[in-house]
Amino acid sequence: MIYLNGKFMPIEEACIPVLDRGFIFGDGVYEVIPVYSRKPFRLDEHLKRLQYSLDGIRLKNPFDNDEWRHLLEQVVAQNDGEDQYIYLHITRGVAKRDHAFPVNVAPTVFIMSNPLLPPPAEMLISGAAAITAVDNRWARCDVKAISLLPNVLLRQLAVDAQATETILIRDGFLTEGAASNIFIVKNNILLAPPKSNLMLPGITYDVVLELAAADQMAHEVRPISETEVRLADEILLTSSTKEIMPITSLDKKPVGDGKPGKLFTRLHALYQNYKATRMRGLTSGTAG
Ligand code: PDD
Repeated sequence: MIYLNGKFMPIEEACIPVLDRGFIFGDGVYEVIPVYSRKPFRLDEHLKRLQYSLDGIRLKNPFDNDEWRHLLEQVVAQNDGEDQYIYLHITRGVAKRDHAFPVNVAPTVFIMSNPLLPPPAEMLISGAAAITAVDNRWARCDVKAISLLPNVLLRQLAVDAQATETILIRDGFLTEGAASNIFIVKNNILLAPPKSNLMLPGITYDVVLELAAADQMAHEVRPISETEVRLADEILLTSSTKEIMPITSLDKKPVGDGKPGKLFTRLHALYQNYKATRMRGLTSGTAG
């Protein structure tokens, strides 16, 4: 069951007009929110980032946080699985094709939820492969825009190379993955690229840095050069759907000793523990 513009319906019945600006221009923003034990994880943070993305494209938020919370609860309740991931999508609505913003047009709001499967155990034992590519996206990667063609093309490079993710390098520095944030480890220090207009401010990225700080793990947020990525002892990938994953090969060469590293193992355990504690502390349907 999905939500589209005020109605709940089976996804097969959901239709949007061809003149929707999301279809014509990719003119919209989205969020992906993990749901554990039927409770959205870090919902306030996701809604805050949604507001930031809407501000970035000058589109009014159609709902306040309580309304979003209520809608998301209903979508989760109508779908299978204790663990799900919500995809929500807002476009500038349906109007005659013209680049300039239409006047007095209602936005299109679409929400769906799918089962969230944990990363395969094999992935946590052996890690995943990644490749590198030049980050050729626009200069507003901090906005979670639905126009994802560059990300789609970059991610496909990984698939073509039998790898899981494409790690992006812009002007000699690490930005992020095609659909994830990237950390490295060198000499037992966790390193994260600083937030800027060139990367998505990941919700999982924030969680990992909070966990590292609480655990008194040595960590630094600073620009990371391509050379540092290539010489890293560990590379970690984070996203709402993949949580934390070890990258154990880069451009077909082993990362460190080619196995998931010590800091990955520690952060993965901390993340699982944090998730469990947080979910126990929340009553059904609410989230923080
Ligand atoms: N993608 N960077 C990019 C370009 C992303 O697309 C994503 C997530 C992230 C990680 O952000 P977060 O931790 O908030 O999920 C970073 C989602 C999962 C997607 O598009 O499906």
